[in-house]
Amino acid sequence: MTTIAKPKAGLEDTVATSSAICYLDGDRGVLAYCGYDIHELARHATFEEVCYLLWHRRLPTRAELGDLQSQLVAGRALPEGLLRVMRALPAGDSMDQLRTLTSVLSHYDPDAGDNSPDANYRKAVRLTAQLGSLVATMGRVNGGGGPIQPDPVLGHAANFLYMLTGERPSALATRAFDVALILHADHELNASTFAARVIAATLSDIHSATVGAIGALKGPLHGGANSEVMRLLLEIGKEAAPEKADEVIRAKLGRKEKIPGFGHRVYHTEDPRATHLRQMSKDLGERTGETVWFSLSQRIEALVQSEKKLNPNVDFYSASTYYALGVPIDLFTPIFAVSRVSGWTAHVLEQFSNNRLIRPRADYIGPEYPQRYIPLEAR
Ligand SMILES: CC(C)(COP(=O)(O)OP(=O)(O)OC[C@H]1O[C@@H](n2cnc3c(N)ncnc32)[C@H](O)[C@@H]1OP(=O)(O)O)[C@@H](O)C(=O)NCCC(=O)NCCS
Repeated sequence: MTTIAKPKAGLEDTVATSSAICYLDGDRGVLAYCGYDIHELARHATFEEVCYLLWHRRLPTRAELGDLQSQLVAGRALPEGLLRVMRALPAGDSMDQLRTLTSVLSHYDPDAGDNSPDANYRKAVRLTAQLGSLVATMGRVNGGGGPIQPDPVLGHAANFLYMLTGERPSALATRAFDVALILHADHELNASTFAARVIAATLSDIHSATVGAIGALKGPLHGGANSEVMRLLLEIGKEAAPEKADEVIRAKLGRKEKIPGFGHRVYHTEDPRATHLRQMSKDLGERTGETVWFSLSQRIEALVQSEKKLNPNVDFYSASTYYALGVPIDLFTPIFAVSRVSGWTAHVLEQFSNNRLIRPRADYIGPEYPQRYIPLEAR
């Protein structure tokens, strides 16, 4: 009889695969993509460079980056059939829309049915380009507007904001959004990336893996937390006395509710991504003249830190950052996908390159074996 070890709840600290993409040290608060520290990437890189890094495990030359930018620009257009499905969907949760519409994209992909490495790389690039256009267009259509055609002159971050708002974004907004995309691009075996790798390991296709990852990202314990943070800030309200924030947070903690945007399975220090998002939230608030959301966030951070010793994670300050950028709240989690699709696809390509079916075991805790079968009429 095979002896099965007792699992750690939530597979905490369980190493499930080897990967050359993302390095995490939860004790020192280190996050690095292919060896490059996230702080350096956030200061110097663009999202397109980070995509290249994740897919190729090295930084691109100028010519390689130019090629990738051209491929991303070429991939931005959305199929007309997809726009028809988008308009036909009933109003509802934007992550549900994104999940369905990403699946629809697979039906129009010129490489559909081709699982070769070259085709999968093209699909990774195309999916990354398309998800930006898709989420921006969802924002337009859900807001009652019409789609805006992508602008080939703009980079990925600026083009997203342009397709969402119809206005050329400022340099500050563009850089803030570019950095947000860099910070969210990959995070080792987070729940959605693990889901994507499990799907890829059956030798299914990259669209299916991405759709599964979107399903995992939706949950409030994962990417869904960023919109929950903004709803919490709005519930407290910008007119309220600062003490109201303390009351709301203490009441939640008293009811043993989780405060969205705090805590992390891996980091025991500050989440290094939160450091940048906190600064961006402050800078953008000052630029728009509405510093109230940043101040409120800081007050909540201090309280949760003193009451629960919990640090903010990537989702806490991204809420007020996106809000200052004028992004509708129901797009906050889809925006996470706009960035993380680069990491998901990098992991899927890595999984395909050295695949073995992922099929763990469960520690059985059900009724003792064997049970005697009792005929229906005798039960
Ligand atoms: C991220 C998260 C899922 C990690 O979960 P985890 O490693 O399984 O940690 P647990 O849920 O077991 O929490 C451990 C303890 O800290 C508490 N805790 C963790 N996050 C908390 C939060 N955001 N608010 C209040 N308490 C929290 C738990 O209640 C638990 O306390 P207990 O031991 O007294 O019961 C968790 O911190 C969380 O739910 N955070 C809020 C959602 C969020 O921001 N998700 C985005 C993650 S990037």
